[in-house]
Amino acid sequence: MICENISINAGGHLTFAGQDTVELAERYGTPLYLIDEARIRNNCRQYLSAMKEHFGGESKPLFASKSLCFKRIYEIIKDERLGIDVVSSGELFTAVQAGFPVENAYFHGNAKTDFDISYGMDCGVGHFVCDNADELTAIEREAAKRGIEQKILIRLTPNIDPHTHEKIATGKIDSKFGVAIETGQARELTRQALSSPHIRLEGFHAHIGSQIFDCTPFCDEAAVMVDFMAKIKEQLGFEASVLNLGGGMAVRYTESDPQIDYAENIHKISVVIKERCAALGLKLPTVLMEPGRSIVAAAGMTLYTATGKKEIPDVKNYLSVDGGMPDNPRYALYQSPYTVINASKADKPCSCLCTVAGRCCESGDLIQENVRIAEPSRGDVIAVLTTGAYNYTMSSNYNAIARPPIVMLNEGGSYIAVRRETFEDLTRCQL
Ligand code: LLP
Repeated sequence: MICENISINAGGHLTFAGQDTVELAERYGTPLYLIDEARIRNNCRQYLSAMKEHFGGESKPLFASKSLCFKRIYEIIKDERLGIDVVSSGELFTAVQAGFPVENAYFHGNAKTDFDISYGMDCGVGHFVCDNADELTAIEREAAKRGIEQKILIRLTPNIDPHTHEKIATGKIDSKFGVAIETGQARELTRQALSSPHIRLEGFHAHIGSQIFDCTPFCDEAAVMVDFMAKIKEQLGFEASVLNLGGGMAVRYTESDPQIDYAENIHKISVVIKERCAALGLKLPTVLMEPGRSIVAAAGMTLYTATGKKEIPDVKNYLSVDGGMPDNPRYALYQSPYTVINASKADKPCSCLCTVAGRCCESGDLIQENVRIAEPSRGDVIAVLTTGAYNYTMSSNYNAIARPPIVMLNEGGSYIAVRRETFEDLTRCQL
C-alpha cells in the first residue's frame, strides 16, 4: 500500500488510520474529507527533531497554512510547537481564533494590502516576510505610526529551477515573488530595511516551488542564500541571523513516485549550510523551513459515493462520483496524479480501467484518468488518497455545491472538525 496508514479489513473494506472507511462514509455522508491526526503529529515531530538535530539552536519548521487551514489544525500545530506561515489576513484570523500564539507566525504574500499590514500588527504577528520595496515602505509607515520596531525577513528570488509543474515553481528570476539577487534589487531592499529605525531585519527567505522530489535544488538554494548573506555582510556590514528556506518537499501520490526521506534531505541541506558558512566566515543562522504538503497531504483522504459507471465502447469508461473539482480542483488545474481505490471492494482485483469524473457541468471536472479499481457499482465508496494538502483550502462552491465536512481520526475514534456546509451556508452572504 502506498501509505502506512491504510489497510484492508476482514470485510474487504479499505481502512484509514485503522478505521473502516465504508462505515465512516455511512456515518458522516459523502463527499467526506478525513484527516489522520496522528500522522500529522508524527510528521511535525520528524521535521522538528531533524531540524533541531542538524541545524540546532532555535531552528524549526513553520507549517504552511495554505496547505490546510482550519482552527483544529492550528491547535495541533501549537501542541507540536511548530511556527506557522500565513499568506492572508484570513489565515491569520483563523490562527488567532484557534488561540495560536501568532508571535510565532510569519506573514507572507506578494500583494499585502495596507489592511493586511495593519491587521497583522494589531494581531501581534511576529514577522512579515517582505516581498518588495513598496511593501517595505508600507510596513515602515505602519510601524512608525505605532512607534514599534517590526521584525521582518526579506524574500529573495534565488533563480533556482526546481523542475516541478510551472504553476507551482516560484524561485526563478521571472517569478512574481520576492526580489532578485542578480539584478541588485535584493541588496537595495536590504539597504532600505537596514536604514529604517522602525524595521528590524533579521534575515532572508526564499521558496523555490512545491512538490519537488530531488534534494539538489534545495541544496543549491541554500548555497545561493548563504553566498548572498556573505556578500551582504561584506558590503553592508549586516550579518543575517535567520535563513528561511521555504517549503516544497514532495509527497508520494502514487506507487510510481519515489520514497522521500525528509530527515536525510534536511541533513544534506545542513551540510551545505555549515560548510559554506564556515568557508565564508559566517555564524550559523537559525534555519527555518515551511513545509505544508509534506506535513498534511498523506494525512488526508477523500471519500465519495459512486453514482454510476458509463461505458463508451472502444473509447473509455467513466465512473462518476458525488464530488469533484469543487472539493479537489488539482487534477483540473495541474493534472495531479492520485491513487484511487474502491473502498467497498478493496480486497477485489482491480479489473476496471476508468476515468473518475466529478459531478460538475464541465468536461474537465475529473479526479483522475485511467485508473484501475475493483469493478464499481452505484453506491460503492470510492477513496482518493493523499488529499490532505491543497484540497480543502482550494475548494469552492462551484455549481452551488456545498463543501464536505472534515472528520478527524485519532485513537479515540473520529470527530467533526469542520461541519458540512448547508444550503443556507450557500446563500448566507446573498442579500
Ligand atoms: N512557503 C511558501 C512561501 C509557499 O509559497 C509555499 C507554497 C509553501 C511554503 C509550502 O509549500 P509545500 O511544502 O506545501 O510544497 N496549490 C498548489 C501548491 C501551491 C504551493 C504554493 N506555495 C498545489 O495544489 O499543488
